[in-house]
Amino acid sequence: MRFDIFTLFPSIFVSPLQESILKRAIEAGLLDVRVHNIRDYATDKHHVADDYPYGGGGGMVMKPEPIFAAVETVLEVRSWKLEVGSGALQPPTSNLQSPTPIILLTPQGRLFNQAIARELARYERIALICGRYEGVDERVREHLATDEISIGDYVLTGGELAALVIVDAVSRLLPGVLGDAGAAADDSHAEGLLEYPHYTRPPDFQGWKVPDVLLSGNHAEIARWRRRQSLLRTLRRRPELLARAALTEEERRWLDQAVQSDQG
Ligand code: 6GU
Repeated sequence: MRFDIFTLFPSIFVSPLQESILKRAIEAGLLDVRVHNIRDYATDKHHVADDYPYGGGGGMVMKPEPIFAAVETVLEVRSWKLEVGSGALQPPTSNLQSPTPIILLTPQGRLFNQAIARELARYERIALICGRYEGVDERVREHLATDEISIGDYVLTGGELAALVIVDAVSRLLPGVLGDAGAAADDSHAEGLLEYPHYTRPPDFQGWKVPDVLLSGNHAEIARWRRRQSLLRTLRRRPELLARAALTEEERRWLDQAVQSDQG
């Protein structure tokens, strides 16, 4: 899978992609991340990529021309449409027909989650445009981007860290990226539940013991304990997730009892 990232701050992407799992995925050819400096596509002498907002107010706004030029060049999409017959070029409309999603990263986008990560993992290629927090000219949103994503209800200084979050969450879903094939299946959120507690040696650390069941060697009992821990943890920390989780009738009944005893 290939990511094309458009940013004013390309250096931010260097170190996060040079460690651990993403590094190995890139080396293995499973992942290809290209970072493009929007400034390189500004045609004026000083490569200016932002300007004062019309109407006044604080902060700078990212100019549309360098962003359109960067994305159109790299993705080989053109927003001018050739009219068959007259041969006339029609004014640019939007890139909604682009086979590659062009995602604008701003705090105003749809809220990123595991379902969106899975949806994005199906694409061969994805373009990410990092907005700076003050703003991006509205025409980028209206006529270039095909989607707009936020990673949470808080404000970052720019979309760069959000782009890395998306690259990370999507890449680890790609076949072969995680060493252990089953590792992504058990994750928190994979099934709409939080993950169960993990333990490793020693069995007794400062008097804090590993639950006996995990040392029992009884795999059916262990699976049952883990599932119930997932259910309980979700109930206590993120009860709103339970409404949409895939639970059996027996699990729902068991949870109802847990709710009663929590209240009792
Ligand atoms: Cl995508 N950008 C910025 N600037 N802030 C954010 C965000 C994105 N998602 C959450 N906060």
